Amino acid sequence: MQNITHSNLWKKLVTRYILSKEVSLKELFAENKNRFEDFSIEFENILFDFSKNNIDEEILALLSLVAEKCQLRMWISKLFNGVSINHTEQRAVLHTALRNKNESPVLIGDRNVTLDISRVLAKMKEFSDNIHSGEYKGYTGKKIDTVVNIGIGGSHLGPEMVCRALKPFAVEGMKVHFVANIDVLNIMNVLSEIDVESTIFVIASKTFTTQETMENALTAKDYLIEKLGINAVSKHFIGVTSDIEKAEGFGIQADNIFEFWDWVGGRFSLWSSIGISIALYLGYDNFDRLLVGAFKIDEHFRKTPFIENIPVIMALLDVWYTNFYGTKMRAVIPYSHNLRLFPDYLQQLEMESNGKSIKRDGYTVDTNTGQVIFGGAGTNSQHSFFQLLHQGTQEIPVDFIAVCKNEDENERSRIHQDILVANMIAQSEAMLKGKSETEALTELEETPEVLESNPTLLYNKIFTGNKPSTTLMLKELNPETLGSLIAIYEHKVFVQGVIWDINSFDQWGVELGKELAKKIVGQFDTEDIVVNHDSSTNGLINCYKKWKH
Ligand code: F6P
Repeated sequence: MQNITHSNLWKKLVTRYILSKEVSLKELFAENKNRFEDFSIEFENILFDFSKNNIDEEILALLSLVAEKCQLRMWISKLFNGVSINHTEQRAVLHTALRNKNESPVLIGDRNVTLDISRVLAKMKEFSDNIHSGEYKGYTGKKIDTVVNIGIGGSHLGPEMVCRALKPFAVEGMKVHFVANIDVLNIMNVLSEIDVESTIFVIASKTFTTQETMENALTAKDYLIEKLGINAVSKHFIGVTSDIEKAEGFGIQADNIFEFWDWVGGRFSLWSSIGISIALYLGYDNFDRLLVGAFKIDEHFRKTPFIENIPVIMALLDVWYTNFYGTKMRAVIPYSHNLRLFPDYLQQLEMESNGKSIKRDGYTVDTNTGQVIFGGAGTNSQHSFFQLLHQGTQEIPVDFIAVCKNEDENERSRIHQDILVANMIAQSEAMLKGKSETEALTELEETPEVLESNPTLLYNKIFTGNKPSTTLMLKELNPETLGSLIAIYEHKVFVQGVIWDINSFDQWGVELGKELAKKIVGQFDTEDIVVNHDSSTNGLINCYKKWKH
């Protein structure tokens, strides 16, 4: 296939980019009074407003032709139908099958994986129901009311983000903790807060080999044995993995192992048995509602024309800014305390997926790929990095996420909620319209003595504006809307990978550091001065050896 960047279509977009630089967002809104209606989509309980982006109908149409030319339709069909599109690992990518609510068969070769999925989901439901009813008890007979999820990356970020986001839906009395970091303080802090007799440890690892997870699991196991004895292990540990033998080898009983499969990528795995911590904390029904929300987006993504398709449009906007405007970053700001971990979760989803520079044919890409994703909850982030968004030298498109309904209906809550959402809308407006020199001057003229004593102040009060943003507004944050929100971003990432012609589903880039760390840790316990690395690495190793005792 011809490189998309060499096509006439791409050249047309370059021309349109040059023209679009001449027209500000403010002018686009002035020209078209229906711009919001024309460039927003309401889907179920989510409003997707992309009107504050530097595009018009023609640009959007050209971008969607890029998606056509990259055979996005065919790739979507491959994704949903279990074709081995993760070619470097020779695996299918079937997280969508995990939430396939119409239960139509999905085949990998001759195997209908829908049957495997239903079996594991039924086991998850039974197990979490038994925990909540008290039928499943700890070794000393106590009811289980605490979950400690031990896992990292995809075996941590999704489950923790979902549990924190949906805290108001938690089963009464249930608590959940997450241990990911190899830093012993992480597990020690958690162990110091729990009663092991009423705790279930979830060892979540697709491979059951990840160093951090295995060491943390062993520390938890030692702690439990010290407190309750070796016979308690089988009652208090469950495993979630695609390598059942390894989990059994760790001492987890077969009944307590929840399988998932190599065709579920780590960062796409919260829908699988990796979601057991979610089901334990929120109840199985809420976990199921999460799947329903994602399924609705899967249907929308598969069946809607590109020009009206939320994940496709989001991806096209990102391509527009990354490849034509040359932006390198995107900020994601949820105006929701409970969604505060969403940017952390997205960092893995987006950057582990699309931080790639080799195309499917083995050649190097000739255009930029994955952006740097950063963010944090609003309004907190307004008081940290928003200055740079408004007046810095970098162009950084923003995704705003808002939640309209607050679960608390009392008056103080309503006041907080109104201020929260007003701030989000105000930030997107400020980015759009900025503040002109005339406006800044008029404002300063109200205090002429200030202007006189500090004449350059005027230039610091000007905001250029014309900064793009997209807003996703959720009617409320519940399992369905959260499931939909996550699925929107998953598919957005996939579409970008298709356009950039990269494999969004492997992660070879994280291997080198892991290999080197294993070698280095082996050098810490020798008496010798280490000399076999570069001088900086030698120096750091030797300093650590000197100072660690
Ligand atoms: O280090 C990267 C990675 O492989 C992620 O892709 C994955 O989510 C994480 O490690 C954890 O892997 P596992 O679930 O096998 O422990």
